[in-house]
Amino acid sequence: MSRYNSVAVSLHWLIALLIAGLIVLAKISHNLAETDPLRFDLIQWHKSFGITLLLLVAVRILWRLTHRPPALPRSIKKLERFGASAAHLALYGLMIALPLTGWAMVSASPLNLATELFGLIPWPHLPWLTDIADKDVWEHRFHDLHYWLANGLIAIVAVHALAALRHQFLLKDGVLSRMTIAGGQDNGYGLFLGMLIAGAGVIGLLNLTDHHHNQQRNDVSVAAESANAEASVDAATVEKESRVTFSASQMGDPINGVFEDHQITLDLNDENLAAATLLAKVVTGSVDTGDGQIDATVVTADWFASEQYPDAEFASSAIELVEDGVYTVAGSLTIRGQSNDIEFTMRREGGTYSSSFTIDRTDFGVGVGGQDEFVAPVVSIGFEVTP
Ligand code: HEM
Ligand code: HEM
Repeated sequence: MSRYNSVAVSLHWLIALLIAGLIVLAKISHNLAETDPLRFDLIQWHKSFGITLLLLVAVRILWRLTHRPPALPRSIKKLERFGASAAHLALYGLMIALPLTGWAMVSASPLNLATELFGLIPWPHLPWLTDIADKDVWEHRFHDLHYWLANGLIAIVAVHALAALRHQFLLKDGVLSRMTIAGGQDNGYGLFLGMLIAGAGVIGLLNLTDHHHNQQRNDVSVAAESANAEASVDAATVEKESRVTFSASQMGDPINGVFEDHQITLDLNDENLAAATLLAKVVTGSVDTGDGQIDATVVTADWFASEQYPDAEFASSAIELVEDGVYTVAGSLTIRGQSNDIEFTMRREGGTYSSSFTIDRTDFGVGVGGQDEFVAPVVSIGFEVTP
């Protein structure tokens, strides 16, 4: 009995597995609260697997266009053949339309989150949707379309699978075995499919441990930071002479980062405070949160707009002594070309001056659009300098 070859069979089942996973991911995330960090993670997985599927379906369609499917048993009537072909065509259409509408939804989203496949490979937005007017309206349209197409796919797959089972158990005409993994003469497929699944599993595991590792690294670095701030001063073991950090909260998940590229100039003498100055310049594009997706997002036009405004700057206007080793610094902070007067407390321990204070990022236009429910407006900024 003629059957689909190993490539077709592998792709058929791998894609079927992916679709089932995508729907499960989407349904679970849909039932979680908008602000649940797990929901955010599940949607990232959904996007990564959905784009993978788009690429696999492209390969599959190429295969199909260059190969003739094996002939069906003669016993199958014309109408049934037509029905099967129509269903297969509809399935191909939906397998293309679903990822495309998902991609369009993400591209039109006012959140403008960068997509990184499996946290590793940057994936662009559809260019003509990123600058569209009424982004939220378009996002909703694509979401609705995506949702209804997914329901259509589920319905047609159900009919398709029932038809296959009918051939197997009622008609007993061997149609199902044309597409089964076991029982063929062709042995390449098992290996191929096994390798694909194993590969996906390894990437998944690596990514999970990596994610975990990043979380831990953030926790550790924060702990190390405060330990550093206390210990380094007297021991003079600061590895760098200065550092600039920030922390924000995304749906309750902490984001901690440093700006690698910065310059802090503190000119301060307790005897002549009137002449004291603190100047700081931070290259916003040098942000490092340990998560490439977040790093890629914060430099975009909605956030730091680093291309247009590469630097954030602070210049003091007055520094006053509150008590020994404690100062109040007033001055102007400029982010995204917008300046605001701020005031914060700075402490000296040994020869190191440090501070941690909060700002409202929306005062500087950082995070335009509807992001406020995802990323808290209050962001804390820290620096440390040993002049
Ligand atoms: C065959 C591939 C895909 C299938 C079967 C699929 C299926 C689904 C389903 C069933 C939902 C739930 C809709 C709801 O309950 O509201 C959903 C939501 C979603 N999908 Fe997909 N999807 C696919 C590909 C993609 C791709 C490629 C992307 C993006 C690159 C994507 C992005 C999304 C997003 C952002 C949501 C909304 C999640 C939310 O906010 O609730 N999907 N998808
Ligand atoms: C998401 C799930 C699924 C999708 C998207 C899907 C899609 C498709 C498509 C597009 C074809 C046509 C192949 C071609 O000629 O190019 C096909 C064939 C086939 N599928 Fe599926 N399928 C799915 C699940 C299943 C399941 C669960 C079964 C069995 C219970 C099944 C059994 C078969 C069989 C036996 C064929 C060969 C039909 C023939 O010989 O003409 N499929 N499938």
